[in-house]
Amino acid sequence: MPYTLNINGKSVSVDVPGAMPLLWVLRDELDMCGTKFGCGAGQCGACTVHVNGAPARACITPISAANGKNITTIEGLSPDGTHPLQLAWQEIDVPQCGYCQAGQIMSAAALLSKKPNPTDADIDAAMDGNLCRCGTYLRIRAAIHKAAHMSSAPGSGKPTSAPPSSAGGGQ
Ligand code: FES
Ligand code: FES
Repeated sequence: MPYTLNINGKSVSVDVPGAMPLLWVLRDELDMCGTKFGCGAGQCGACTVHVNGAPARACITPISAANGKNITTIEGLSPDGTHPLQLAWQEIDVPQCGYCQAGQIMSAAALLSKKPNPTDADIDAAMDGNLCRCGTYLRIRAAIHKAAHMSSAPGSGKPTSAPPSSAGGGQ
């Protein structure tokens, strides 16, 4: 059955079984590989996207539940990789292997949209379900604080030292 979603601002229709996870649709049907498959069971956060602005695990979200909703993936977080979180991630050099990082950034983005200046406790609570086998948690926390600072500083958000990039995307 056809389902229609708004993905990163574009209306997209797919004709797939209703139980197919959104993650499968993104990666296998639409070739959007920025969102990662980790556990496939809602336990690791690697597949985090936003559904109507809230963080959701795409691996356990059936396409039928996403029908008609606004989906944001790491590819749509900013047009050119210059979301404050992406810039902060680069400045602090957060990733190690990188596999979990798209999900980390998407959870962090959902947090900052609700709490522009989160405390350590806010960050730890919001990021609790996003696992990192490489143990980058302290750099993630520092980068979220840095992004919050960039977003709140007048006229900032694009520090000149950061090169253009697409932190968190890729295969
Ligand atoms: S792959 Fe979805 S939570 Fe692990
Ligand atoms: S950077 Fe390797 S799993 Fe997080």
